Amino acid sequence: MPKNKPTTKPLSKKPAITKKQNQHLNAPSEKVQLFEKMDPEIYAKLQSTIHEVIEKTLPEYKEWLNSAFGEKITGNDCANESLQNIYSLVTSAVNKAMKTTIPQAVKEHNDQQGIMEKWFKKKFYDDVSDIRPENRTYYKYCVENFINQFFTKEKIAGKKIFDFGCGPGYYSTILAKLGAHVTGIDRSTFLIEKANELKQRLKLENVEFFQGDFRDFAKNVTSKNFDHIVAIDTIVSFDYRRQTHNHKEFTQALSEISRILTDQGRFFIIEAHPFFGQLAKAITLSKDGRFHGRLPSYKIEYKAKDNPHHWFTLDEMTSALCENCLAICRIYEPDPSVELEKENPHLYRFYLKYPHLIVYEICKVKI
Ligand SMILES: C[S@@+](CC[C@H](N)C(=O)[O-])C[C@H]1O[C@@H](n2cnc3c(N)ncnc32)[C@H](O)[C@@H]1O
Repeated sequence: MPKNKPTTKPLSKKPAITKKQNQHLNAPSEKVQLFEKMDPEIYAKLQSTIHEVIEKTLPEYKEWLNSAFGEKITGNDCANESLQNIYSLVTSAVNKAMKTTIPQAVKEHNDQQGIMEKWFKKKFYDDVSDIRPENRTYYKYCVENFINQFFTKEKIAGKKIFDFGCGPGYYSTILAKLGAHVTGIDRSTFLIEKANELKQRLKLENVEFFQGDFRDFAKNVTSKNFDHIVAIDTIVSFDYRRQTHNHKEFTQALSEISRILTDQGRFFIIEAHPFFGQLAKAITLSKDGRFHGRLPSYKIEYKAKDNPHHWFTLDEMTSALCENCLAICRIYEPDPSVELEKENPHLYRFYLKYPHLIVYEICKVKI
């Protein structure tokens, strides 16, 4: 690149752009239209990736500016011809960024969409009688153990229970076997088929399953209809494609929950503890046995590709509840079943030390 001397010629008008350069300049805007069809979250992500790529390209650009113009470029010091070069360079940098990031972002978006469906089909409940076999300690010794201990026959026989995000109906049928009248809803057709197969296999009359989105389904439910609502591992995957807290949809769902629950009713959110994954990853012990913990992604802005769940922070959770006249009346951090000790004493001790499961017991608040 020739080392141009800075010129003092004033910049009177926008530099003329050649046809070739113009083609360059048009290219990004054509692609920008592609963004309009995109999910706003993907769009935002794309923007930040483009920014990142430009940042990477910038040193090269700065180097060229320095070699072309010397140390500093000030105000009107640039000749038209040099400015054209800058335009072309910036445009090609943007084009380069677009070219790299668009296919990558679209691919990531598509992959993300399919992840949960694939997950459900391949690994999730191949056999509903053996719940989540690949990860059964948590479901069997933590979730199921809590359900068995907490929802006793005396407490729930004859009660109407709504299972929000019932999946293959495993827990709905446990509650039905104890005498509750259970209604389960899930938006996965595959899982509702499994739930109905399970219902038939167990010959249960007091449980029914529906496929659909909770918010659509709830519109047709009369007010104060259910004594209890359970959402087992549902809120973490309430809208599993999103990357950040979707306050609007969550509060809409909560407003329906509040409406269809009886005044004395309870809503139970039962799910993996929001701190657990982070703690397990971040816990280190120094040589003198001191505990070091950090929660790198408690406020999850970024999610691993294979884990598109969103753990609500306590702040997100309580502010959404509050808006719908709901409040947490108790939080449980249940210990695993003692049976796990026999099967895997090491894991049992680990689960005792670090909270694995969390249960929010939520009630309606009168104002
Ligand atoms: C991790 S699974 C848990 C299934 C079941 N509760 C269990 O533990 O066996 C979460 C379920 O919630 C369902 N879900 C999430 N958001 C939903 C919504 N808005 N309406 C209906 N189902 C929903 C998903 O389809 C998924 O099957």
